[in-house]
Amino acid sequence: MSEAENFQLVRPFSKKCAAVAVPPGSKSVTNRAMVLSALRGGETVLRGALFSRDTEIMSDCLRSLGFVSERDSAARTFRIAPSGKKPEAAKLFVGNAGTVARFASALVATFDGGEFIFDSDDEMKVRPMKGLLEALKEQGSEFEFFEREWSFPFKMSPRGLKGGTLALDASVSSQILSAILMVGAFAKSPLDVVLSGETVSRPFVDMTIKMMESFGFGLDEISKSRFSNFRRIEPSVGEFYDVEPDATAAGYFGALPVVAGGACFIAGLKKDSLQGDSAFFDLLQESGIARVDKLDEGFIVSSETRDISPREFDFKDISDTFPTLAAIAPVLGGKISICGIGHTRRQECDRVSTVAENLRALGTKVDEKEDSLSVYPNPDIAKISGPVEIKTRFDHRMAMSFAVLGCFEGFDSKPRVKIEDPKCVSKTYPNFFDDLDSVRESSEKFRIVAVDGGAAVGKSSVSKACSKTLGYLHVDTGAHYRTLTYGLLEEGILPSDENGVSERLASFTLGTAVENGSARMTLNGRVVPDELIRTKTINSSVSIFAAMQSVRSFVKKYQTSMADFAKSEGFGGLIMEGRDIGNAIFPNADVKIFLCADEATRAARRAKEGISDSISERDKLDSTRKISPLKCAEDAVKIDTSKLSKDEVVARALAEIVKS
Ligand code: CDP
Repeated sequence: MSEAENFQLVRPFSKKCAAVAVPPGSKSVTNRAMVLSALRGGETVLRGALFSRDTEIMSDCLRSLGFVSERDSAARTFRIAPSGKKPEAAKLFVGNAGTVARFASALVATFDGGEFIFDSDDEMKVRPMKGLLEALKEQGSEFEFFEREWSFPFKMSPRGLKGGTLALDASVSSQILSAILMVGAFAKSPLDVVLSGETVSRPFVDMTIKMMESFGFGLDEISKSRFSNFRRIEPSVGEFYDVEPDATAAGYFGALPVVAGGACFIAGLKKDSLQGDSAFFDLLQESGIARVDKLDEGFIVSSETRDISPREFDFKDISDTFPTLAAIAPVLGGKISICGIGHTRRQECDRVSTVAENLRALGTKVDEKEDSLSVYPNPDIAKISGPVEIKTRFDHRMAMSFAVLGCFEGFDSKPRVKIEDPKCVSKTYPNFFDDLDSVRESSEKFRIVAVDGGAAVGKSSVSKACSKTLGYLHVDTGAHYRTLTYGLLEEGILPSDENGVSERLASFTLGTAVENGSARMTLNGRVVPDELIRTKTINSSVSIFAAMQSVRSFVKKYQTSMADFAKSEGFGGLIMEGRDIGNAIFPNADVKIFLCADEATRAARRAKEGISDSISERDKLDSTRKISPLKCAEDAVKIDTSKLSKDEVVARALAEIVKS
């Protein structure tokens, strides 16, 4: 392989992150959902499923066992249904997939009769099966082992599950317990499962039990080691089951806005996730490293402050995600200490020392101990002229974690890192680099965002916050009308004098000044300060001037020119707020947001600002005028802000923007 093929150069983001990420489905959830779909009967379409060797193997096994299992790669679905034929005999190949090895054996044990040959990869032949196969034998199945006792390959002659008390040894693999729990309701007499020891990876057992309930299988957990009263219950899942995205893979896109700035919407993540690694998102939020808002359709993660004080985190329960945080730690403002990770030295590679080695190669100070790693801030990371070679040691997690760091905003777009052996990501996320590229590409798209709504609905604060997060130019068009009103009144032009207005406008020169990411209109070379345009007098006449054709055409030309202005100033997009932006100024805006709120909430907000303003009167004038009235555009997303906090509205608005 040539050097070019064996390295992946990572291009930094030239604009802040503003994109949607759709990580692959979780393997554990996909394979459980396939078995549970088969067990419950009827048709189930698994959406957002993972397509990988292990899930393909599960799908093949189900087909051999008389189920329909159809894959639609474009739609990312598996359709599982009974085929109507139950085979008397079949050959099953489980590869090196632990879930298939255990779950398919338990599934076959529910069959009454037939002969099934199981085989596997060599690696699977030495992985633990004994506890499970002993239990299935005790329940009635017969086994003939072709190589070694209690391991693949073997012949299984199932006779159903007889039930009764079952002593189960799941001490070496929680999948053994999960497999038995899933089929417990099929026992001919009530089954009582008693664990002979403890089991490992309890979160995976919880995942199994929660998923069983969704698919209509209940049980009573008498204690941590005793399960009984297996029964059919009302399922909450109908024809479709949405597989959660893999939480560990999703974590890379959670870390991305921390290094690149901006916001990333991670589609499909759920508040009550089945996966332990979803706690990584809580860690980001609670530590202030990022802001995480959990919406119905996914999480929106946005950059918060990088200046966090030194922090220590215990990653024992979410250790697969420790390289994600350690790799981005150099861009944070304080020392980050990570403990509880000693066991990861024996994973795909010695993760603690490989992370440390790569960080040092990037000029970062690191303290490495047996069970922990401390990473110091590295303000020089932006100056790396690179590309520095990242050692992956064939570990997918090294490749993906340091690729995220490589996205660190660098407006020169010179790669700072190159990832060795990038194909190692195929273990869990074959399309990782393609997905990262499309997130970068989407972030570079210049978007025009129209935010409309009546007075005191929260347009300004939401628009400003979104602009700040995304690095977009903010434009408050209300201030344009207010500035012109001030200019006209200053020159003695009254709202009743429409002819005088058009004449005077012709003498006005407009320009733009940028203050803190917001564009301010200049009138004859100066910005009229807020205290002069937000007075009682202006409030009471602005809407009358704003309803005039001459004023609107004069302003429209100026406002539409703001898109080119924002581009030329290097902003990633434009957020313009007002009354008619989505309908008249930018009818082709990439996203239109219409904010509303009930009367009482709006009046209270204005009163809090200490401004005397008859907002309902202005709203009435604004919505009933002939030209460009205040009206929700047909294709706008409407958000009622009455019962939402500002942060909640911002989160929803950000999600809409990055999705467009
Ligand atoms: O601060 P508030 O939301 O109450 O008002 P504003 O955005 O400062 O706008 C002041 C007035 O300008 C509105 O009441 C409208 O009459 C007018 N306006 C408009 O006609 N079209 C816009 N796109 C923005 C404001």
